[in-house]
Amino acid sequence: MGMREEATKRVAAFWGDRPHAACILTFGCQQNEADSEKLRGMAHEMGYTDTAEPGDADLILLNTCAIREHAEQKILSYLGRFKEYRQKNPALVIGVCGCMTAQEHRVKQLKERYPQVSFTLDPASLPDFPRVLEEVLMGEGRRFLRGDDAPEITEGLPISRVLTHRAWVSIMYGCNNFCSYCIVPYVRGRERSRASGEILAEVKDLIAGGCRDITLLGQNVNSYRGDCDFATLLERVAALDGDFLVRFMTSHPKDVPDSLIAVMAKYPDKIAPQFHLPLQSGSNEILKRMNRKYTVETYLATVEKLRAAIPDLVLSTDLIVGFPGETDADFAATLDIVKRVRFDMIYSFLYSPRKGTPAAVMEEQVSPDDQKTRMAGLLRVQDEIALSLGEQYVGRTVRVLVDAKGKDAGALSGRTAGGRLIHFSGEPSLIGQFVQVTVERAEPYALRGRIAELERNIHK
Ligand code: SAH
Ligand code: SF4
Ligand code: F3S
Repeated sequence: MGMREEATKRVAAFWGDRPHAACILTFGCQQNEADSEKLRGMAHEMGYTDTAEPGDADLILLNTCAIREHAEQKILSYLGRFKEYRQKNPALVIGVCGCMTAQEHRVKQLKERYPQVSFTLDPASLPDFPRVLEEVLMGEGRRFLRGDDAPEITEGLPISRVLTHRAWVSIMYGCNNFCSYCIVPYVRGRERSRASGEILAEVKDLIAGGCRDITLLGQNVNSYRGDCDFATLLERVAALDGDFLVRFMTSHPKDVPDSLIAVMAKYPDKIAPQFHLPLQSGSNEILKRMNRKYTVETYLATVEKLRAAIPDLVLSTDLIVGFPGETDADFAATLDIVKRVRFDMIYSFLYSPRKGTPAAVMEEQVSPDDQKTRMAGLLRVQDEIALSLGEQYVGRTVRVLVDAKGKDAGALSGRTAGGRLIHFSGEPSLIGQFVQVTVERAEPYALRGRIAELERNIHK
């Protein structure tokens, strides 16, 4: 038995027959969602039940994000509120994990100013969760774990997924790109890829369990370098039997070879026509200062190839507004590309300086007022584009995987193959199935429609 299994048994024994509940709160991106499914899996093995209410928990775990200042401040304010629960229930254990806890200055701050925090666990130390919890429960004092920059991948951690019909599968971890604004390479460490056999086995299990939609996940998913390249891995997944769609995110524009586009074109029924390709800026000068390793011209050429090869491609991007040194002309160049490409979706962020990154000490930081004015201009342009692209779906019937109930009785929502959100009405029993929906109306961020016919699901 490994260290983790032994610690797991001892924590379970510590609780014995007494009920104990864990509240895991997740911030940030899909990598954190995926990590939280592993934390929950480990918590279940230690006998914890789930609670969504931190006030009812014996263990509160905050899985944190450090991508922008605002994200970190939000988490610190949560922790402030949890002090009160700790006073009511002195046995309550509060742990902080995730990207924030891979930064020395944050750990120091938590150590010194947040006595309610019993332990921190950075992303590299995730498999040590049972051991650290055991030490805290046994009264060995507070623990602050900081792992290696390139830890070996731990296979076989239990995963407790929220849904059965949709799943994340992490295929690579970390990032080597060091974009000058970004904290991720510092908190998630170097790129490492799982073996393709492990990935394929996980995907096969999911399909056998009725999963219909699988997202291959990685900070730069298309930079996957296991025992094969990403295009080969994607093709192996797409060639598996079953009624499912595979998608992937996030892709770096420097790693979109023709072979990847060809695989997507070859399996239109298995690979979702969706590409999330963060552009960040439409100015070559700014891209260079961001250390993005591509130009506007090469980016546009990639988009052209993707659109030529993949019908109905849903294309989305990330943009940073107000990067240091961004002039009115640089921002105008971004607006120009947005109008030319006509993205289905844009995720735009105000630049936020991150301690320890090169951009944080660049001169010519853009004033918050200018940042906000530019952001408002960008959103105005994009709202119009998104609406007119949505309107092109009106009257068409599309295949939708049903996700959830809406607020009103009989209301459902789901996603098209390309990942567009769509609302319609129907029976809750359809959740987790594919249905045909005729689009009746477009809104800037969603479609509305009605069910056209029920699809018979063929279980293989
Ligand atoms: N690995 C992915 C995602 C990184 S984080 C990629 O390379 O695209 C998601 C997005 O957050 C980034 O694409 C970027 O647009 C934004 N982001 C990262 N650091 C930021 C910062 N310091 N300020 C504002 N936005 C940032
Ligand atoms: Fe951050 Fe750049 Fe790595 Fe993406 S590629 S995670 S933006 S450093
Ligand atoms: Fe945030 Fe870490 Fe993801 S910093 S965006 S949770 S990789």
